[in-house]
Amino acid sequence: SAIDAPAGQQPTATYESAFLKACRREPVPHTPVWFMRQAGRSLPEYLKVREGIGMLDSCERPDLVAEITLQPVRRHRVDAAIYYSDIVVPLRAIGIDLDIKPGVGPVVDQPFRTRADLARLRDLTPDDVPYVTEAIGLLTAELGATPLIGFAGAPFTLASYLVEGGPSRTYENAKAMMYGDPELWADLLDRLADITAGFLKVQIEAGASAVQLFDSWAGALAPADYRRSVLSASAKVFKAVEGYGVPRIHFGVGTGELLGLLGEAGADVVGVDWRVPLDEAARRVGPGKALQGNLDPTVLFAGTRAVETKAREVLDAAAGLEGHVFNLGHGVMPSTDPDALTRLVEYVHTQTAN
Ligand code: CP3
Repeated sequence: SAIDAPAGQQPTATYESAFLKACRREPVPHTPVWFMRQAGRSLPEYLKVREGIGMLDSCERPDLVAEITLQPVRRHRVDAAIYYSDIVVPLRAIGIDLDIKPGVGPVVDQPFRTRADLARLRDLTPDDVPYVTEAIGLLTAELGATPLIGFAGAPFTLASYLVEGGPSRTYENAKAMMYGDPELWADLLDRLADITAGFLKVQIEAGASAVQLFDSWAGALAPADYRRSVLSASAKVFKAVEGYGVPRIHFGVGTGELLGLLGEAGADVVGVDWRVPLDEAARRVGPGKALQGNLDPTVLFAGTRAVETKAREVLDAAAGLEGHVFNLGHGVMPSTDPDALTRLVEYVHTQTAN
């Protein structure tokens, strides 16, 4: 398949890691585990490093990016690192005036509402993000056999921030454009697909071993609208990074009705939130793809016994899968006890050791 080792090349220790094997649907020594948002505010060492430095400023400092990316790997012994950044970083890199407001999220100074706004979206080149190449160089040297996951926001989720101007519960402006001016919407998503593809390529060429496309808010869409107005842009992103032999993960929240389409867009691994059990998710996704997920992140507040019971349920539902990467159904919540995460990694590893 497209994610097999290049012919005639000796597979590296990273290539043979449990995480990449599970993505390729090969037998694993134990179920690999990582957590979305494993780097960040749940860790005191993160808060310390970030003192007095803005979130987006920290993303442009290779030394900080490498340190923050490594913190959860050292502490929890997770099976993969995820590059410390944010989905809006490539947009800022091409000159969009935006910021991340603590407790709010990404906020765009001038929201995108008209065709004239398309001119604000130019392609991203490696020169726009030298800190990414540098940070990944530092990271691959430190990580040894532990794979690094690169990531980007998917065109729909990025468009939702650009058009709304900030986080939204209803996406009324973005969806109004999608329904009311489908040509402008299609052009906007196509521009975002090119930017996203460019950003993922920089990460892969610098040494990322897998990539995840976060379409966090795609669950706001009916399947017919996702198919008509979103799928081709995300498919363009996956197609652009197909030739590298790195697994491509596709994740969104509340996407139970979209799981088949998330796979169809071109992913090797489909991320599942906690609302659909993994055995049912596998039926919806169909054969030939691994699944990632899907413990409810709030279970981590319920004590060790509850965590283990619910993690066991996830593993039982995953028993018949072709490939399973254990994760939460969405990101780690900031007030999570880090020790609960460390214990969960240990639990999944011991329960699944072959
Ligand atoms: O997963 C990781 O550990 C890697 C780092 C990462 C961040 N953001 C760091 C971050 C990743 C993968 C993201 C992706 C991201 N960012 C998504 C997709 C994943 C998801 O959660 O669905 C989205 C939608 C965003 C946009 C965003 N950035 C939001 C909604 C917020 C929260 C705002 C808040 O303060 O509540 C952010 C900020 C953000 N991104 C933080 C971190 C560590 C917190 C900022 C801080 O430390 O002050």
